[in-house]
Amino acid sequence: METCNKSEEKHESAAIVINDGWPGYSLDLFTYPQHYCDDLECVYIPHGVIQDRTERLARNIMDDIGDHHIVVLCVLKGGYKFCADLLDYIKVLSCTSNRSIPMRVDFIRLKSYRNDQSTEAMQIIGGEDLTILTGKNVLIVEAIVNTGKTMKTLLNHVEQFKPKMVKVASLLVKRAPSGGGYSPNYVGFEIPDCFVVGYALDYNEYFRDLNHICVISEKGKLKYRI
Ligand code: HPA
Ligand code: MG
Repeated sequence: METCNKSEEKHESAAIVINDGWPGYSLDLFTYPQHYCDDLECVYIPHGVIQDRTERLARNIMDDIGDHHIVVLCVLKGGYKFCADLLDYIKVLSCTSNRSIPMRVDFIRLKSYRNDQSTEAMQIIGGEDLTILTGKNVLIVEAIVNTGKTMKTLLNHVEQFKPKMVKVASLLVKRAPSGGGYSPNYVGFEIPDCFVVGYALDYNEYFRDLNHICVISEKGKLKYRI
């Protein structure tokens, strides 16, 4: 597989780092669905900040790989909001610049979490025929990279189809205690090792209908535990 040249790499690694002691914002300062009023600790990353950061990631991605045909591979379910918003910003950029390249969007569905714990086996439980990735520049769009194990497994899977290049954009990366040793090419925020929900990130399928990224409360974990 090809990698981008040095000048293209300059947009890759930098992320907004949220430190371990960050308490988040009081829920009272924002609006959110009232059915979750006892289930959240705080607003960790407000929706507007997610949007603004996503807009900048879109620009970085366009600056680096906007001259290539790209197949976007959206990792469901958690990645759907980030992917939709990222592509909206990319579309605005391609309307307002003379770099306008058609983009194909495909989906893959992974499942590796039960409650707030990662299960051993990552399952690929849906998605298109990935032979369409052969010879293409692929941008994998994911909501969160935790230990990196899931992403490494997905990358190995994708590489079997011999794409020309693969880049990964993740809205969040967790500072996992074990390190993990995997870092996506484009990262929105680096966060401490805590379980977050909202903006399509779920806890047993709940909280996808929340716009902000929030920390779930112990009460919330008990209420929606399976
Ligand atoms: N929240 C939701 N889903 C996740 C998380 C998280 O913090 N980490 C990995 N999958
Ligand atoms: Mg999940």
